[in-house]
Amino acid sequence: MLILGLETSCDETGIALYDNKKDSLLAHSLFSQADQHAIYGGVVPELASRDHIRRIIPLVEEVTKNAKCSQRDIEGVAYTAGPGLFGSLLVGATFAKFFALGLNIPVLGINHMEGHLLAPMLEKDKPEFPFIALLVSGGHTLLVRVDGLGCYRILGESLDDAVGEAFDKVSRMLDLGYPGGPFVASLAEYGDPNRYRFPRPMLDRPGLDFSFSGLKTHVLGVIKKRRQEKPLDEKEKADIARGFEDAAIESLVVKCKRALKQEKIYTLVIGGGVGANRRLRSVLTLELENLGIKTFYPSPKFCTDNGAMIAFVGAHRISAGERDQLGSTPHAKWSLEDLKSLPSEQ
Ligand code: KG4
Ligand code: ZN
Repeated sequence: MLILGLETSCDETGIALYDNKKDSLLAHSLFSQADQHAIYGGVVPELASRDHIRRIIPLVEEVTKNAKCSQRDIEGVAYTAGPGLFGSLLVGATFAKFFALGLNIPVLGINHMEGHLLAPMLEKDKPEFPFIALLVSGGHTLLVRVDGLGCYRILGESLDDAVGEAFDKVSRMLDLGYPGGPFVASLAEYGDPNRYRFPRPMLDRPGLDFSFSGLKTHVLGVIKKRRQEKPLDEKEKADIARGFEDAAIESLVVKCKRALKQEKIYTLVIGGGVGANRRLRSVLTLELENLGIKTFYPSPKFCTDNGAMIAFVGAHRISAGERDQLGSTPHAKWSLEDLKSLPSEQ
């Protein structure tokens, strides 16, 4: 089926057309509001929903044109129904329902985290079930056992800040840009890995949960102390960025290894914005290769929010007969464990 995917859960309007019969992403387009929110140091929900309203129709027109198809060829609409900012979700949901109603085609709300989880399946080299997924975004840090489409069991999660949120906060402490992850990561490239050794959160405890708030507070303490001595120069900032990045990555890598060992699984899938982090990708690949574990990542453009992952999940679920009620509302919170599983051939 040819499915239109709409992602509007936060500060990116992502639109895509995916055909599951051809296993092909026909076109995708994205507008990032990052510049509009940067001056506030974080997403302003009201500005986000207003901008989705402005972008959604031109982007749908652009995507259908790039895919060389007409809107009448579209056979179903999938939109992000949660988790996310309620106002932004409502824009996507309202547009999706009226678009589908106008064309008399099915419409379905998709879980954003399921989109991130299955985004590696947009690539040529696809993971096979079962696998462990590490989902690392601005709002979530999750380790999930995946036995099939919709068969998800959460093994561990962050007890406080998500890892992406910690990157964003450290970026703000160092007066870098927003969203913080890419700024912290590029500065860390020039940092000395031996200058700061920040605490590795939760590594000394059993289990698969994460915590990043203590690490963030520790980094803040060091920054304040150094600033009392003299203003931070670029070298000092780079060393702190590197120390933070290494600590955050080690926590993620150790917990991934623990989860794979516990579940006796040899495939790891990474999804979510922090999955675009080059050092995380190289450390994971290197350390897991030695253990005979294969890692799968989406290309960096499909790690961060995008419409393609929503169109992909929508195509599989709508083809299996799932439909929304017209009166359904988005869910600001929505666990992966509450999703319906699909038959394995889907
Ligand atoms: O998945 P995503 O685009 O949106 C959410 O669903 O939250 O993730 C955004 C998060 C932000 O916190 C951003 O700083 C982080 O992903 N991020 C990165 C990198 N690129 C994006 N963090 C570390 N390194 C990166 N290269
Ligand atoms: Zn996301």
